[in-house]
Amino acid sequence: MPTYILLFGAPGAGKGTQSAILKAEYGIPHVASGDLFRMHLGQNTALGQLARAYIDNGELVPDDVTVQMIRDRLHEPDAANGAVLDGFPRTIPQAEELDGLLAEFGGKVDVVLSLKVREATLLERVANRALTSGRADDQPEVLAKRIKVFLSQTLQLEDYYRERGLLAEIEGERSVTDVTGQIHAALKTFAGL
Ligand code: AP5
Ligand code: MG
Repeated sequence: MPTYILLFGAPGAGKGTQSAILKAEYGIPHVASGDLFRMHLGQNTALGQLARAYIDNGELVPDDVTVQMIRDRLHEPDAANGAVLDGFPRTIPQAEELDGLLAEFGGKVDVVLSLKVREATLLERVANRALTSGRADDQPEVLAKRIKVFLSQTLQLEDYYRERGLLAEIEGERSVTDVTGQIHAALKTFAGL
């Protein structure tokens, strides 16, 4: 059965950082909705053109477009054994669609790793990253909007997954190595990995 690990958290919480480590350790691809959108922006595809206004304003791209992009990615052969999903789902409808999609592969969400980080730390981390990331949405006013959108539209997913016994809360303020250690413990407890 394929394995699906979800990385959840605010902008700058460390989802991408930890996903890259898990990808190497478990040999399953890192599927990040934000990275996929940025690839489309870079290639100026129709999807990229549609998504640009949302991303540059720190808003969520509409669910139907986002779900279809993830569906296509998970159908690629390298994802046959599962994936580390980073930044998806971000809304309840996305989470519901994901349940159906993973069932098509005979899988399910194995665990949701929620990286908990204070807002002051998020601002500091992303301000640092903005120096080199080239991400237009790392500018302070767009970052503030992304955090607001996370709190108003995405954070409620914690309850969705807590009710299903899948939510592992991780102290994301600690060092990268410490956070990875907490994640290993959660993967063992929740998914037997
Ligand atoms: P996305 O690319 O997913 O951005 P995000 O969620 O805002 O998160 P970031 O990538 O900024 O942070 P991260 O948690 O990956 O942290 P990182 O590891 O880089 O989404 C971008 C946009 O795309 C959205 O705003 C939206 O428009 C659209 N989108 C994406 N998904 C969507 C969806 N499902 N539905 C609709 N729209 C969607 O770490 C941050 C920094 O901190 C790095 O410099 C890192 O080196 C450092 N760091 C990490 N961990 C630590 C640590 N433990 N200690 C110290 N420093 C650390
Ligand atoms: Mg990221």
